[in-house]
Amino acid sequence: MKLVYSIAQMQRISRALRKAGKIIGFVPTMGYLHEGHLSLVRRCRKDCDMIVMSIYVNPLQFGPQEDYRRYPRDLKRDAALAGKEKVDYLFVPRDADMYPGNYNTIVEVKGISDSMCGALRPGHFKGVATVVTKLFNIVLPDVAYFGQKDAQQAAVIKSMVRDLNMAVRINVLPIRREPDGLAMSSRNAYLNASQRRDARILYEALRKARRSIEKGERSARRISEEMKKLICKVNSAIIEYIVIVDARDFKEKKTIEGRVLLALAVWIGKVRLIDNMEV
Ligand code: PAJ
Repeated sequence: MKLVYSIAQMQRISRALRKAGKIIGFVPTMGYLHEGHLSLVRRCRKDCDMIVMSIYVNPLQFGPQEDYRRYPRDLKRDAALAGKEKVDYLFVPRDADMYPGNYNTIVEVKGISDSMCGALRPGHFKGVATVVTKLFNIVLPDVAYFGQKDAQQAAVIKSMVRDLNMAVRINVLPIRREPDGLAMSSRNAYLNASQRRDARILYEALRKARRSIEKGERSARRISEEMKKLICKVNSAIIEYIVIVDARDFKEKKTIEGRVLLALAVWIGKVRLIDNMEV
């Protein structure tokens, strides 16, 4: 595996790979890798000739009060994991190169970005859309891999690629979970032992909601009330949002019909966790 820090060098490598007819698969991440990230790499290896992974904690997608500074970082550990998974190029750009002093451009995806995490983290999806556009322009992938864990992010990227005619295919893969159901996340590293136990309530609430829907409940309000009640039993939990949206356009639903996404963001102590389930 080759570590690449320079944007120009990454672009040169990608151009040469494309010229040689190689299919480039790309897995963008913010590092502190876990099985969720690695599942994207494994699928990428099946589909593509070359795997490029990026590790970049993108300051543009964090709000001023958010965890940008303390976001977990461990390049040595990540490089070892990526190497084991046979990543070909690990691209680790520097802040000063990604956003130099004269940086001016922002990519905004309207509509899908407005609800849920978009409403509660102003500027977050502009930061994501902007950095992913930059990374696509540098890595020149044929296919890029994202996780359903960040369902709204995946929908924002798909919309952006479609709207801007970007020549890349977006592949969204299922959520990887810990044995007790907690969705894997780099942020789980912040949880202490009792918070880690409490965090199971997110998946429990989603499963309970799915059971209710399967039994015939069709009122979105009653289902989210039920989830709220369950989560509020956990002392360390504070609900940021629980929503039931159309799985395609992320518009809120009053009545369950067709494919819906149950989505939630919950604070366990000072740690913000998100999870979702399509039903
Ligand atoms: P990060 O949180 O590091 O996630 C990188 C990719 O891994 C995302 O596509 C995310 O959805 C996926 N992922 C995370 N946890 C997962 C899980 N438990 N199961 C399956 N996939 C999972 O998302 C970002 O970084 C950034 O916003 C980024 C797209 C890199 C732009 O900065």
